Amino acid sequence: MPISDRVKKSMEEGSWIRRMFEEGTLLKQEYGEENVFDLSLGNPIMEPPPEFNRELKKLADSPIKGMHRYMENAGYAETRAAVAKQLSIEADMEFTQDDIIMTCGAAGAINVVLKTLLNREDEVIIFAPYFAEFINYVENHDGVAKVLPTDEEFIPRLDILESSIGAKTRVVLINYPNNPSGAVYSNDFLHRLGELLSAKSKEIGRQIFLINDEAYRSLVYDGLECPQIWPHYRQSITVTSHSKDLALPGERIGYIAVHPGISEHKELVNGMIHCNRISGFVNAPALVQRLVGRLQAITVSIPEYQRKRDMLYGSLIDMGYSLVKPKGAFYLFPKSPLEDDVEFIKELHKQRVLVVPGSGFGSPGYFRISYCTDDRTIEGSLEVFRKVAQKYNLG
Ligand SMILES: Cc1ncc(COP(=O)(O)O)c(C=O)c1O
Repeated sequence: MPISDRVKKSMEEGSWIRRMFEEGTLLKQEYGEENVFDLSLGNPIMEPPPEFNRELKKLADSPIKGMHRYMENAGYAETRAAVAKQLSIEADMEFTQDDIIMTCGAAGAINVVLKTLLNREDEVIIFAPYFAEFINYVENHDGVAKVLPTDEEFIPRLDILESSIGAKTRVVLINYPNNPSGAVYSNDFLHRLGELLSAKSKEIGRQIFLINDEAYRSLVYDGLECPQIWPHYRQSITVTSHSKDLALPGERIGYIAVHPGISEHKELVNGMIHCNRISGFVNAPALVQRLVGRLQAITVSIPEYQRKRDMLYGSLIDMGYSLVKPKGAFYLFPKSPLEDDVEFIKELHKQRVLVVPGSGFGSPGYFRISYCTDDRTIEGSLEVFRKVAQKYNLG
């Protein structure tokens, strides 16, 4: 057998999203692209904002000498300074380039942070529903993922967290705006979480790190401001990318930001820079680092995503589906009309609508709809959702 037991296990358990992608490809071959309504992927259909192409052209027209060479493993000082400047404005707190490490997407960022922090069998607490790859990332670094529940609005249950933290706990990994639920945590919640983690760190005699995956930070709706974790807990690290806010997932560009007041800041940051190098990333892609450094205040159209959310949410509610209105990201996470969510998505699948079962996110009994797609796909899917709602007497 050419592959390790660990990789074999990981491939067998596989990601539902990948599976849907593969099944979707087959369906599209059989019925034609236009007859398949694929709401399974978080791959934004929007093009990057025009400013991206403008800066790309500028750079191509006036190349900077040495711009394709190796660099510091943390990334260009100029880019990190631009990120720190924007973060200082948004968080109303002083960040410098020394708090920032450029990475290969948010995925690269999480892996670098976990590699830096975890000893074998250290626990990483995550909350269901979660981004499925979190489990792989924790296992990549010999950690143990401990999954805890959220409440009916998909907010982590702090009472359960309190009783679940033990001597092995090293990291609490959160994600808001959340994939798949779209939940955004409130300042009040973050304050209580910070207090709890401070008290528990003292109790177990070990610093617990709070990692927030902010890949969807800019994608919040109804005028909401996405709360910052920084004022609430000093041992905080955020990981993010420009995959969603600038629609650049294929370019693999993101960053780690470390609380300026985190304890043993220098040692920690040096550890992460080292892990960025030895994980095989070496540094984040050079060309796109230059570009995003110039685009920190720019995003794709947020009202456009809000419009798509409203169209789908309103229609599904009218049909009788049960779902919490998502405040951010570009997903809906309704209850499955059938107890068995896998059975339910197979039913949709037969009618050429692709979604992902909640089981793939650690939350059976739900399903995820991704609306970062075109209106034709969303509209086509609505007919099927309506038919299925009638079949199961919803509403
Ligand atoms: C919650 C979450 N974190 C991380 C990632 C990975 O982001 P990136 O492609 O920027 O590495 C995704 C991608 O969909 C995500 O949904």
